[in-house]
Amino acid sequence: MWSYKLQCFECQRGFPAQEAGFRCKICGGLLEVIFDLAEKREPAWKSRQLSVWKYRELLPVEKEECIVSLAEGGTGLHHCKRLGRKLGLKKLYVKNEGENPTGSFKDRGMTVAISKARELGKKKVLCASTGNTAASLAAYSARAGMECIVLMPKGKVAGGKMLQVIMHGAKLIQVRGDFDQALEMAMELADKRREFYLMNSINPFRLEGQKTLAFEILHQLGERCPDVVLLPVGNGGNISAAWKGFSEFQQLKIVRDRPRMMGIQAEKAAPIARAVKSRQSKVRPIHNPQTIATAIRIGSPASWPKVLRAIRESKGTAETVTDRQILAAQKELATLEGIFVEPASAASIAGLKKLSEDGQVDPSETVVCVTTGHGLKDPSVLERLPKSQTGYNLEITGASRLERLERVL
Ligand code: F0G
Repeated sequence: MWSYKLQCFECQRGFPAQEAGFRCKICGGLLEVIFDLAEKREPAWKSRQLSVWKYRELLPVEKEECIVSLAEGGTGLHHCKRLGRKLGLKKLYVKNEGENPTGSFKDRGMTVAISKARELGKKKVLCASTGNTAASLAAYSARAGMECIVLMPKGKVAGGKMLQVIMHGAKLIQVRGDFDQALEMAMELADKRREFYLMNSINPFRLEGQKTLAFEILHQLGERCPDVVLLPVGNGGNISAAWKGFSEFQQLKIVRDRPRMMGIQAEKAAPIARAVKSRQSKVRPIHNPQTIATAIRIGSPASWPKVLRAIRESKGTAETVTDRQILAAQKELATLEGIFVEPASAASIAGLKKLSEDGQVDPSETVVCVTTGHGLKDPSVLERLPKSQTGYNLEITGASRLERLERVL
């Protein structure tokens, strides 16, 4: 591991890494891990398999024996020719993060953060979640033998994610209200009771794991930088982590350029897109956010300063999509490419469609859509599909079944 420090994102003050707080003690800003990359060259990565820990020199875990892993990362970067043709794009790729062990990109961050928690001697971990963070934390804390507490908004979490949390033996607490309230409670509890180690994305160690998404994309494209990367945005941790990853590879001179980062939000849960479109320097929370994409049903994104910087520095943008567009994109990706993702993930595809129709993505550009979670996480989508798409209306019973079968084919 290369040397690093924790630094305030706002006032740039440095703190020793052992101080496992989440906010700058002086100005209250978010913290980030800064690696000393001066004079550094690419390590012997080539011989290692694609995975999060391939990049261990750039991950803030000192003791190898503390690493808790379920084989995360190394997800497919799929060239989507059929969908690309439909959208008028030749070089469309989908980085399918649903291929991670618990079915979402959260595992990249969780393997690093839980390893760090172990290194710091923590025994109890805590998060608030719309579902995927909780499922991932539940699995990794089970693997590490740690106690796990998750707070989730009651009645607003997809069934598959609930099942994962329960199956892995986490203590599940449902909170009346939105994710935003659950996160506030988790932060208050972590502040008050230091034995509970907060694992939400304001934990800077988690974002370090998530930045490996960018490293993998660059390696999978043969060390060529894509022009555009689109991601669904909730709290904003992932898009900022990816931006940090692209920036570190540029600093290491592995690539010359960085992509435009485009954040996609659901229309009625879009505080970031609203701020970007109206050129605000701050993000104002939205009350009572609504969308079928429950993973990104977030009104008060914790990492907003990092997101705004990533979008601004990269000359990217943010866009909104309706629930109807999300569902159509989910079905289209599954039907045309065999890639089944949850609704929040399909937002990146729906957003691409809108932005390319708008001329903000050029047909000749190399585009990567990040799909963040597996489609099986949220079976409730079945109820929302038009009956004609489900096969519910095709049924055969009784005598001369084969004849009837042939008739409906
Ligand atoms: N896609 C999926 C499937 C998610 O679960 C999330 C966030 C996002 C996108 C957005 O990522 O917050 O880093 O901008 N899910 C969190 C959770 C909030 O609790 O599982 P972000």
